[in-house]
Amino acid sequence: MAVPAPVVLGLAMVVLASCATGAHGQLRMGFYDQSCPGVERMVGDFVRQHVGRVPTVAAALLRLHFHDCFVRGCDASVLLNSTAGSVAEKDAPPNLTLRGFDFVDRVKTLVEEACPGVVSCADVLALAARDAVAAIGGPSWRVPTGRRDGTVSSMQEALDEIPKPTMSFKQLTDLFATKGLGVRDLVWLSGAHTIGIAHCSSFADRLYGFPGAGAGAGNDTTDPSLDAAYAVNLRRRKCRAPNGGYAEDAVVEMDPGSHLTFDLGYYRALRKHRCLLQSDAALLTDPAARADVESVVGGPDEVFFQLFARSMATLATVQVKTGAEGEIRRKCAVVNGASN
Ligand code: HEM
Repeated sequence: MAVPAPVVLGLAMVVLASCATGAHGQLRMGFYDQSCPGVERMVGDFVRQHVGRVPTVAAALLRLHFHDCFVRGCDASVLLNSTAGSVAEKDAPPNLTLRGFDFVDRVKTLVEEACPGVVSCADVLALAARDAVAAIGGPSWRVPTGRRDGTVSSMQEALDEIPKPTMSFKQLTDLFATKGLGVRDLVWLSGAHTIGIAHCSSFADRLYGFPGAGAGAGNDTTDPSLDAAYAVNLRRRKCRAPNGGYAEDAVVEMDPGSHLTFDLGYYRALRKHRCLLQSDAALLTDPAARADVESVVGGPDEVFFQLFARSMATLATVQVKTGAEGEIRRKCAVVNGASN
């Protein structure tokens, strides 16, 4: 059957259009080799210099990158400020404890001075997070570049798509699957909690009035999946306000004793039921995930490093914008052309 000429023409245009997107629509190593040579070294040097002095920056950047990639892909939408017409991701409750925005701005300013309007905020963040983890002795991974920055940032989307610390294993794996990440990515990426801190408000429900706890156990209303002695320590010391109440702003090390060191401490604590979040404890509720944890915990750090690095490389490509999509923001907190 003969195909009418307008249909053939239409199809040809669609094919051409998608080829055009494909030709430019890829991340690749050394994307800035011609347009901004040395940018990756510039980011790396700055990060190493500062993380050497303030190692807590590493956790801040790693979490920032993760939260960026989970909403609208790794497009730096998490860095945008709210505007008169729209409340941004940044102002969503799960993001109120994010840190490191100023740091990314400083790196971006340096990069803009060298190559104005060339390097995206999304790439700056992906590179800085990678270099910061390596700078505290953690693994490194390949970060192909060429991400473009988004122009939309929505508080509601952050609420819907950032995993909640109260989520079950099934809820977490379902959410990760929507980002193209598998069960093992969840297991290894959760290992990021080997560094950094959490506010008591992020896990308070495990300590006070946990649903279903306390039946027949007197006043103990803590989450039974949390080690009892550790729960007492959190309640009586770490999260205790000076007046004896509960201090929601108090912070606790995610991996007590080595929260500045990227190591297997998280998985060792997890086995002892001493991780802070229900979402951490959830990993032990699935036999395969539990077996994965067991498989690394006694081994050298390098095995975990490789697994973590592979999952980070995947995370860093989630729903990226490339080619002609989005823009290269001049300032990470505002879209180009904004009045503020
Ligand atoms: C699996 C689901 C996850 C949940 C529910 C979750 C939740 C949380 C929460 C509630 C905190 C504490 C925030 C605070 O109170 O200040 C936190 C901290 C942190 N998370 Fe996650 N997280 C998850 C996965 C990840 C992943 C995949 C990464 C990175 C690859 C990551 C990196 C971090 C880091 C580095 C910190 C410490 C931040 C700091 O020191 O400021 N998390 N996470």
